[in-house]
Amino acid sequence: MPNPSLRVLQLAEIASEPTAVPPAAATPPVVTLHGVAKRFASGTLALDQLDLAIRHGEFVSLLGPSGCGKSTALRVIAGLSEPTRGSISWSGMKRKEHRRNKPEVGFVFQEPTLMPWATVFRNVMLPLELEGVEHRLATKRATEAIERVGLASFRDSYPRELSGGMKMRVSIARALVTDPPLLLMDEPFAALDEITRFKLNNDLLELWREVGHTVIFVTHSVFESVYLSNRIIVMTPRPGRVFTELAVDAPYPRDESFRTSAEYARHCRIASRALSRAMASTS
Ligand SMILES: Nc1ncnc2c1ncn2[C@@H]1O[C@H](COP(=O)(O)OP(=O)(O)OP(=O)(O)O)[C@@H](O)[C@H]1O
Ligand SMILES: [Mg+2]
Repeated sequence: MPNPSLRVLQLAEIASEPTAVPPAAATPPVVTLHGVAKRFASGTLALDQLDLAIRHGEFVSLLGPSGCGKSTALRVIAGLSEPTRGSISWSGMKRKEHRRNKPEVGFVFQEPTLMPWATVFRNVMLPLELEGVEHRLATKRATEAIERVGLASFRDSYPRELSGGMKMRVSIARALVTDPPLLLMDEPFAALDEITRFKLNNDLLELWREVGHTVIFVTHSVFESVYLSNRIIVMTPRPGRVFTELAVDAPYPRDESFRTSAEYARHCRIASRALSRAMASTS
C-alpha cells in the first residue's frame, strides 16, 4: 500500500533543493495520463495511479529502478498495451479519436529491431510503405531521415555491416520518418559504449532541436537523464507512479562543456538523491 505521509515528507525534502522545482506549465500537454494502472494477466501490477502530462516540445526522461514499469508506461502511451484503469488523452482528445490520424508516435526500442535481410533504406521505408505513402514521396522522406541521422553513405548497407551505434541511428531514422509529434525512446543507448552513447546523446539533442517533436526518453541513467532532458520524472519502484519531478533548467544547446560543468554535477546530485529516495519509498 502507498504510504502518503512518507511520500510527502520525501517530496518536501527534495523540494528544499534549490533547483528541484517543477517547470512552469509553459505549453499545453500533448498527452496526459490520468490515474493509469496496468495489471498483467499474471497478476503483476506494473503501474498504479500514474498521472503524467507531457507538454508540447518537451524532452522528458522517465527515470526509475529496473522493473518499475517504465517500458509498460511507454507501451501504454503508444497504444501497444491498454491500461487496466485510468485513461489517456491527447491534446484534449481521447486516444481513440487520435488514432484515426495514425501513426501518432515513433517508438525506438532498446534493441534496434531492424530487418536483417533489408538495407538501411528498406528498413527506414517500412513505416511509410505500411502507411501506403506514394513511392516517390516515401523515397524522398526516407532519404532525408537517413541523412538526418548521418548515414547517407550507408543507405544501401545491411544491418550486419553496421556498428551498434549505427544500427540505433537507423532505428531512430525509422521512428522519425513518419514525422510523429511524439517520439518514445526506451533506453535506446543502454547497450552502447560510453563514447558512442555520448555522441548519440549529442546527435539526438540536435535532432530534437531541429525537428521540434516531443520526446519521452526512458533511462536508468541519472547522468543521461540530466544531460538530455528539460524535465525528469522520477518513478517509484513497482507499481510505478510518479515519485517526484525535477526541472533541468540548464539552457540548450548542451555540449561537452555542460557535461563537465558544476551545474551538471549539481543536477546529477539532485536527481541521484531523488532516485535513491524513490527507491527507498514503499509503494
Ligand atoms: N507482458 C507482461 N506480462 C507480465 N508481466 C509483465 C509484462 N511486461 C512487464 N511485466 C512486469 O511488469 C513490471 C514492469 O515491467 P517493465 O518492463 O515495464 O519495467 P521497466 O521499468 O521497463 O524495467 P527495466 O528498467 O528493467 O527495463 C515487471 O515486474 C515485469 O515483470
Ligand atoms: Mg524497460
